[in-house]
Amino acid sequence: MKFLITGVAGFIGSHIAEELLKNGEKVIGIDNFYSSSRSNIELLNNLSKDNFVFYAVDIRDFDKLEIIFAEEKPDYVFHLAAVASVQKSIEDPVFSNSVNVLGTLYILELSKKYNIKRVVFSSSAAVYGDEPNLPKNENSKTAPISPYGYEKLIGEYYMNIYNKLYGLETVSLRYFNVYGERQDPSSEYSGVISIFEDRLKRGETANIYGDGLQNRDFVYVKDVAQINILSMLNKNVAGEIFAVGTGKTTTILDLFNIIKNKYNINLEPNFVKARNGDIRESRADNSKIINLLNFDNFTEFKTGILKL
Ligand SMILES: NC(=O)c1ccc[n+]([C@@H]2O[C@H](COP(=O)([O-])OP(=O)(O)OC[C@H]3O[C@@H](n4cnc5c(N)ncnc54)[C@H](O)[C@@H]3O)[C@@H](O)[C@H]2O)c1
Repeated sequence: MKFLITGVAGFIGSHIAEELLKNGEKVIGIDNFYSSSRSNIELLNNLSKDNFVFYAVDIRDFDKLEIIFAEEKPDYVFHLAAVASVQKSIEDPVFSNSVNVLGTLYILELSKKYNIKRVVFSSSAAVYGDEPNLPKNENSKTAPISPYGYEKLIGEYYMNIYNKLYGLETVSLRYFNVYGERQDPSSEYSGVISIFEDRLKRGETANIYGDGLQNRDFVYVKDVAQINILSMLNKNVAGEIFAVGTGKTTTILDLFNIIKNKYNINLEPNFVKARNGDIRESRADNSKIINLLNFDNFTEFKTGILKL
């Protein structure tokens, strides 16, 4: 089977590719290195010279994308390429919309035209905004508070409409805060982990925005890769949306202390002004993943942190 992955050079995309290549599958990767470097591509090339093909292409270039679909004839598509930044989408919503909405539509259109068996779309818990009811499941109210959140929600709606109108199988995954190896420290999702790791390891303290009691549902990247593959191959989940989190939360202050203890150092955080648009609390209800995808093997947060 052949899997096309957009955003393959990125954090999560590279882990999905790694898992597939380790299973002997063929992977076609697309990325324009907007928020990643060649290092993940080198890693994937080293994993499999024969089964991995990479194209440096922008997903807004329909003609180049079409050549890849026509020549490579993938069976399945994981769509992760995106401007994955709330802040960037607030600064330049026209740009983020062009990638996150138009680029997504191009991927769907070509998936329809080239009879792709299923598209799994990387959505985000940002679709919920700051809506206070917790935990969030697939039926929770969506109320984005940033262009990014809206763009992901539009992506989900397009997944749904391509499924209903054209019979293209789609699944949307609303990730909470994904963390793990190769995380970009500038990521707004869990980049805080890489930043704390980086600074505390060197004996320096780190900034905490606000009081540090904002909490997040941190989910380990290799679990997210597994959930992507299960969502692609499970016969019964076409058209579904999944909230992808562990159901457990950690405050940013706890996180600081966990990493501080990991390196056995005694430093206090540097509290600075809260950031605009920062969501206070976030937690997934993952019972649909457990029940429909039969995945209940979530890595404990402290275990995941020790693996970094
Ligand atoms: N990391 C998280 O916690 C998290 C949470 C919710 C949703 N997501 C979503 O998951 C997906 C992957 O996120 P990530 O954390 O791996 O981010 P990432 O920035 O590491 O990966 C995104 C990749 O897309 C590529 N890309 C961006 N614009 C492109 C374009 N126009 N053409 C081709 N490639 C392009 C980037 O270069 C990058 O390699 C994104 O869609 C993101 O919105 C991530």
